[in-house]
Amino acid sequence: MSSAAQPPATAPQWRSKRAANVPASVFALMDAAKMRAQASGHTLIDLSIGSSDLYPPEAALEALRQATADPRTYRYPLFSDTAPLRQAAAAYLERRYGLKLDPDSEIVPLIGAQEGLAHLLLAVTDPGDTLLMPDPCYPPYYGAAAVAGLKVHSLPLVAANHFLPDLDGVPDTVQARALLLNYPNNPTSATVPEGFFAEVRAWCRERDTLLIHDHPYAELTYGGYRAPSALEGGTSGVVELHSLSKTHHMGGFRVGFAAGDPQALSALMKIKSAVDFHPYLGIQAAAAAALNTPPSGLEVFQARRDALIGALRDLGWAAELPQASMYVWAQPPGLRDSVAYAVRAAETTGVALAPGRAFGLEGEGYVRFALVQPPEVLREAARRLGGVALP
Ligand SMILES: Cc1ncc(COP(=O)(O)O)c(C=O)c1O
Repeated sequence: MSSAAQPPATAPQWRSKRAANVPASVFALMDAAKMRAQASGHTLIDLSIGSSDLYPPEAALEALRQATADPRTYRYPLFSDTAPLRQAAAAYLERRYGLKLDPDSEIVPLIGAQEGLAHLLLAVTDPGDTLLMPDPCYPPYYGAAAVAGLKVHSLPLVAANHFLPDLDGVPDTVQARALLLNYPNNPTSATVPEGFFAEVRAWCRERDTLLIHDHPYAELTYGGYRAPSALEGGTSGVVELHSLSKTHHMGGFRVGFAAGDPQALSALMKIKSAVDFHPYLGIQAAAAAALNTPPSGLEVFQARRDALIGALRDLGWAAELPQASMYVWAQPPGLRDSVAYAVRAAETTGVALAPGRAFGLEGEGYVRFALVQPPEVLREAARRLGGVALP
C-alpha cells in the first residue's frame, strides 16, 4: 500500500481555536426550516433578516453606472482615492449632527459596519481584554469578540429598563477596554433619551474605556424622533460605525464608514491594510452620492410598523411601537422557547421570524420581525401565526 493511501495516525485539524470559538448561527437552523416550509408547499413570508427591500437613491445608482463605464475605476483603490467618500461622510456628519470632523484622520471607509467592528476590535484590544456588550445584540458581535479573543461582560437589555444598559451595575472589578452599544437598537428597536451618550461618555472616560457605537439605523426614525450620535461631545475615546445598508438600502453594496478617535482609527487602518483594500471606487462614489441624499423610505417602514403592531396586538401579543429601526420586537404570551417556536412557525405556516434567543440569552421569550414586506403581507403573516401553538 502506498503511503498516500494510509490515513495519518492523528489527522491534523485545519481549524484554529479562534474559528472554533465563533458561535454557530441560529439563522442556519432557520434557513433549513424555511427550505422545509417551501418543500411542503407553503408560500414563504421571510421576516427573519433585516435586509431592506427598498431601492437605493437614484443618484447612488447613477454614480455607480458612471463609474463602471470608466475603466480608470477598475484598479485597486488607495487610501487617497477614498477622499471623496471621507469628505462626503464628514459633510453628512456636519449637516446631520453639527460635528466638524477631519476627513483625513477622523473618518475611515468600511466594507460595512460589520467588517468595521470586527477589525476595530482587533485594532484596539488585545486577547484577554474585556469587552462590555449588550445582550441581546446583533449576533455577529459574539463572533467579532471571539475572533479578537476577548472576554465578554454582558449588559442585559431588559424591558423594565427600556432596553438600556445598566452601567452602574457593572462591578468595579470589571476593567473593560471597550464598551459596545447600538442605538437605535437591533433587535429591540430601543432608542435612547436626550443626554444618554453624554452620561455614557463620562462613564467611559472615568474608566479609560473606549466607547464603540454601532449606528447603522441612524436615519431610520419615525414621528420626529432624532437618533443622537455618540460623537456629539467630541471624538476622543469614541468610535462610531455608520452604514449605508439600512439608511440608504444598500446592504449588498457593502459600504459604510467609521468616525471618531484618530488614534483608534489609525490602528483600524493598520489592521485593515493587512487584510483588505477599500471598496471599489464605483461603490465609494455611490455611497458618497447617497450620503448627499436625504434618507428615503421612512414612511414605508412606518406604515409597515403600524400594520404589524396592530395585527400582533389583535393576537394578544405584547409589542412596543418603536420610534426607530426596521424591526418589531414582540412577545407572544407565554413563549418559553423562541427557537423551537420560530422553527415551528416557519415549518407549519411559511412565516420566518428571528427567534429572540438568536440575539442572546436575554432575547428568550421574544421574536423579532424585520419590516421587509408590505403591510398586507405583514398582516397575513400575523394571521398565519395566530394558528401556531406555542412550544
Ligand atoms: C446593529 C447592526 N450592526 C451592523 C449591521 C451590519 O451592517 P453592515 O451591512 O454595514 O455591515 C447590522 C445589520 O443588520 C446591524 O443590525
